[in-house]
Amino acid sequence: MTTQEVIDLEQKYILQTYGRPTFVFEKGDGVNLYDTDGNKYLDFVSGLSVNALGYGNKMISDAAASQTEKLIHVSNLYHTIPAPQLAQLLCESSFADRVFFCNSGTESWEAAMKFARKWAFKNFSDSPKYKFVAMNQSFHGRTFGSISATGQPKYHQGFEPMLPGISFADLNDLESVEKAVDSETAAVMVEPLQAEGGIHAADPDFLKGLRALCDEMGMLLVFDEIQCGLCRTGTLWCYEQYGVTPDIMTLAKPLAGGFPIGATLMTQKVADAVDPGDHAATFGAHPVSCAIAIEVFKTLSDPSFISDVQEKGEYLTSKLEQVKADHGDKVTEIRGRGLIVGAVLKDIAAADAMNAIRDASGVVVCVAGPDVVRFLPPLVVEKSHIDEAVGAFASFLEKA
Ligand SMILES: Cc1ncc(COP(=O)(O)O)c(C=O)c1O
Repeated sequence: MTTQEVIDLEQKYILQTYGRPTFVFEKGDGVNLYDTDGNKYLDFVSGLSVNALGYGNKMISDAAASQTEKLIHVSNLYHTIPAPQLAQLLCESSFADRVFFCNSGTESWEAAMKFARKWAFKNFSDSPKYKFVAMNQSFHGRTFGSISATGQPKYHQGFEPMLPGISFADLNDLESVEKAVDSETAAVMVEPLQAEGGIHAADPDFLKGLRALCDEMGMLLVFDEIQCGLCRTGTLWCYEQYGVTPDIMTLAKPLAGGFPIGATLMTQKVADAVDPGDHAATFGAHPVSCAIAIEVFKTLSDPSFISDVQEKGEYLTSKLEQVKADHGDKVTEIRGRGLIVGAVLKDIAAADAMNAIRDASGVVVCVAGPDVVRFLPPLVVEKSHIDEAVGAFASFLEKA
């Protein structure tokens, strides 16, 4: 099929929920992608934080092939081998005692909301306790619970009414959270680093304050590490940088190296409130995704891999800071952690920058809101790739 034939077919039969550029990705290798016309791209999007180990990774395809040959799927009515092995790895390396597996970020967030409600229902049966406080500018996914907890009205428009009982406070403004909570609040929910909302990291004092407030008022603290977890910010878990642990945490994106998976991690006190039959997912704990995730996790949790990501993250930030110093009239701030870094533009739309950089140099970057260009490479990126991507950004700014 030609490129145009693929695009025509897509436009005729697929619901048009995405705006896409006019080429078709056909294959990938390392940090590079190739389209159907043979053009090569340097990938600084990594499937929006999914393809942490890049493309064509033999370890991932071997794990997929081996588990596919053994067993692709049986119902969750039965035990399978990979899921408990993966759960053990996740729990032994984090705050968590238990894991619920599903298939995507939004599903893991829905599960977090349900488990928080169930915990409140079981522990505060005399008085209602069902409300959530989430953050403005947050993003938690596209199903109804998740958009209801997402503090960006553009995702609500046309779909109201939202789930009742959710109010919003400002990231890094503890007073605004204190005002938003009351005795009926079951949980406070936050991304330690807001990604889609513009690359805003939580302040240490803010997360520490949330933890203390939750403990004092009998509320759960829920972290969404779907985009910022699993080594993206330079530590295995983003929360490690804060000395604060949550009661529930959601994961998805890179966990199975590109195969669909979601995971909701929790402490035993939350797990104690959830009974058999309370929640389920037909494809959850999928043997193939879990078998791959075991291998991916071994790499992502390797201390030398983590320190390498830290070093490359510092390199990316320092290179972008240099670009900002050279183009202070067009770039106002560089912000982020590890290998998720945003450049805030002045008087230039981030989407225009993204398209121009890709068309001129074959470097694919993405946006985080209207004015932030987001650099989100596979974690296996090398410094030479960082030079190339930042160079493409600098060339764009010179002409803009
Ligand atoms: C922080 C965060 N939470 C939740 C989601 C939703 O994940 P999914 O698209 O897998 O449902 C995303 C996706 O971008 C995300 O970045």
